[in-house]
Amino acid sequence: MKTLLSGIQPSGTLHIGNYLGAIKQWVELQKSYQVFISIVDLHAITVPQDPQELRKNTLELAALLVACGVDPKKSVLFIQSHVPAHTKLAWVLNTITPVGELERMTQYKEKRERAGTLAGLLNYPVLQAADILLYQPDVVPVGEDQLQHLEFTRTLARKFNSRFGKVFKEPKALIQKEAARIMGLDDPTKKMSKSAPSPNNFIALLDSPEEIRRKIKIAVTDSGRDIRYDEKSKPAISNLMAIYSAFSGMTVSQIEKKYHGKGYADFKRDLGELLVEKLTPIQKKYRELSRDDKKLLAILRSGAKKATGVANKTLSVVKRKVGFVL
Ligand code: TYM
Repeated sequence: MKTLLSGIQPSGTLHIGNYLGAIKQWVELQKSYQVFISIVDLHAITVPQDPQELRKNTLELAALLVACGVDPKKSVLFIQSHVPAHTKLAWVLNTITPVGELERMTQYKEKRERAGTLAGLLNYPVLQAADILLYQPDVVPVGEDQLQHLEFTRTLARKFNSRFGKVFKEPKALIQKEAARIMGLDDPTKKMSKSAPSPNNFIALLDSPEEIRRKIKIAVTDSGRDIRYDEKSKPAISNLMAIYSAFSGMTVSQIEKKYHGKGYADFKRDLGELLVEKLTPIQKKYRELSRDDKKLLAILRSGAKKATGVANKTLSVVKRKVGFVL
């Protein structure tokens, strides 16, 4: 069986960009891959975090992932800081990483504006590479914003292998083409993001039906009135169509046909209803799960145990290769 690994930060509300760009693929691929999903709390502290919030967000995220369909019987769901091999491998990888490469990373340049030039933030991609390489995955399903980190991971794997002998597999990024970059509802030139200044930028997976309808209703649209997919001249409606397509399974051209002769208001009303219909069952399951922290912790502890078994195997090969006394 092939292996899939991905990660997600417990740093606030999950939105439909996270869901469509990443989580939905994890759930679909559980049938054919051994899946590892890491809740990356060590990454979350690279920008200032309130400790209580972080703890709450971590458990909430675990419940939400299970509610979205990550099945703990099939997939290994774990908290990154429960598996010490991640930081251990990151240290080793740091020693072969040129600082210049880290300084060029887009996400670092964006985040340092808010968080300052902290060493943890600079080294973020090295820890991400460790997250990935420990599990020797074939694929890493992510949204487009993570492609640079994936390319960096592959380069680092190649560098380590050529210096110490082959240890790591070079993993491939797996991108869900049409949902790789869901844009903000209030500004279709920027990606949908939980750190956006206005909550009208995103639909959170836990938004109420009224909130969902309201946010879609006020989402910006382009000039003209026809429902036509054209990212360049109609970025706002194209983004809404991509969301519609990903949730309904209809292709963009089927959507164009369905709304031929109709206006933005009709389309938006249906999109609002579609989102309510798809998110309501997730919210219901989430509410059941989040009442039972014990059950959730049991899932996460068992996930950490399985992950540790796999990660430690890779780590001991690495230790031998670099010359540590075992
Ligand atoms: P994070 O927590 O920011 O996001 C989780 C996943 O959601 C995707 N995503 C989007 N996809 C489409 N449209 C959007 N607007 C959108 N916003 C977010 C992200 O691409 C991501 O796949 N560095 C990672 C976490 C990480 C990781 C890893 C990922 C740490 N270690 C190892 C994969 C493998 C991050 O910040 O994701």
